[in-house]
Amino acid sequence: MFCYVFFLWSFFVTSSFALPSCPSLCECDQKDSSWNVYCRKAVINDTVYAEVLNQLPLTLRSLHIQPPTNRGGSNKLRWNDNINRFAQLRVLRLINCQIPAMSRSIRLPSLEVLDLRSNNIEHATMSNFGGMPKLRVLDLSSNHLNILPTGVFTYLRQLRSLSLSNNTISDLSTNLLRGLNSLRVLRLDRNPIPIEQINDLFTDISQLDELYLNHCNLSSISLLALDRIPQLRQLGIGGNDLKHVPSKEMRSLSQLSVLDLSYNSIQEIPACALCNTNVSKLDLSNNLLGIAKGSQFNEDAFRNIPLRHLDLSFNHLDEFDSKWLGWAQEELTSIALSGNLMKHFDEVWTHSLKSLVHLEMAYNHIKYIPVQLPTRYYHLTSFNISGNELSYLPDNINNLLPNVKVSFSSS
Ligand SMILES: *[C@@H]1O[C@H](CO)[C@@H](O)[C@H](O)[C@H]1NC(C)=O
Ligand SMILES: *[C@@H]1O[C@H](CO)[C@@H](O)[C@H](O)[C@H]1NC(C)=O
Ligand SMILES: *[C@@H]1O[C@H](CO)[C@@H](O)[C@H](O)[C@H]1NC(C)=O
Ligand SMILES: *[C@@H]1O[C@H](CO)[C@@H](O)[C@H](O)[C@H]1NC(C)=O
Ligand SMILES: *[C@@H]1O[C@H](CO)[C@@H](O)[C@H](O)[C@H]1NC(C)=O
Repeated sequence: MFCYVFFLWSFFVTSSFALPSCPSLCECDQKDSSWNVYCRKAVINDTVYAEVLNQLPLTLRSLHIQPPTNRGGSNKLRWNDNINRFAQLRVLRLINCQIPAMSRSIRLPSLEVLDLRSNNIEHATMSNFGGMPKLRVLDLSSNHLNILPTGVFTYLRQLRSLSLSNNTISDLSTNLLRGLNSLRVLRLDRNPIPIEQINDLFTDISQLDELYLNHCNLSSISLLALDRIPQLRQLGIGGNDLKHVPSKEMRSLSQLSVLDLSYNSIQEIPACALCNTNVSKLDLSNNLLGIAKGSQFNEDAFRNIPLRHLDLSFNHLDEFDSKWLGWAQEELTSIALSGNLMKHFDEVWTHSLKSLVHLEMAYNHIKYIPVQLPTRYYHLTSFNISGNELSYLPDNINNLLPNVKVSFSSS
């Protein structure tokens, strides 16, 4: 009898009555019974991870494990199927944890976000994703994926956003994204995938909103079948050594509103560079626009687009006149000219920009700010001149720039 009672007592204490508590290496944000747990302040290995999983309540809603950024040491984990206890888990982030593979028996019926960035995953198959029918966001960037078999994502009918950036994918199997009718965002940056195979993908995802092909070793996109994804709103093709603005290629993208052409080798912007698109935000930073003197912008360059934000940073520009922007002058609200070679503070940088409120001039060679500024500057709400050669600011700087809220460092 005594033995029996003792057994019952110990059973209750260790399981039923042991209330979940926040693991000491983690931080817990408890709302009612659903917990959001972050383990980012200590290095976590398999042993610690297993303990953490045992300690957390079954109502866990989100778990985020990532090594601390400031101190040394790295997380090293293998997949632990004990995670399947958490049937209400919606968000799982296991970032930079050297995970070699996903399990084939994952059962997380409520999971919506799976973020496995920066691990060592080499293979993925259909069976890895069979137990997460609600998944909306999958991030497998910066792993070692090489080949993705046909049908690998078939079960992910609700998937909205997929990142495969920065793997070593050189070959896409046919019909890789077939049936993913909800997919809106696709990131394939930093993979050497042949253009024909990217085109084959488009056939199955004509509804795409955002596509990222930055740093994909594309020296031209003339063969890219963008007409198969006519609803595209955002396109990233930076870091591809493009020599020209791909104007003709963009013509089929009438809804395109954000275009990233940074880190290419573009020297000039031709007439009607983005006509027929809806581009309001254009990143041309880190190109070569300052190499050809004087004529880099055609006067009709920005015709017929609602351009509001333009980044011309790091382009070897030693002069700039806002008149060069032609059709964009009236409506442009922000311009970045950081990292160029501009020396003497000059009114012509902005004189014709009637709607300008954000001006970035960091990392130039500006030595002084004049004590009088054109009235245009009164309207600025941000003005970034950090990293210049200023040794003082005018005493009346607050009157010159009455609406600038963020103060600026003058080092
Ligand atoms: C895991 O980390 C804990 C705490 O830092 C340590 O005590 C333990 O020895 C480690 N286990 C292994 C297998 O490395
Ligand atoms: C790409 O992944 C490698 C490891 O596979 C990592 O070292 C590197 O920082 C990643 N690059 C980017 C830009 O994320
Ligand atoms: C990039 O493309 C060029 C040809 O356009 C090829 O010679 C080179 O090997 C490619 N580099 C990588 C890393 O795939
Ligand atoms: C263009 O973009 C604006 C927002 O910037 C949007 O309101 C408008 O509907 C878009 N037009 C087309 C044709 O996509
Ligand atoms: C100013 O611009 C530089 C270069 O783009 C940037 O690195 C920095 O963060 C900016 N500073 C502020 C305060 O926005």
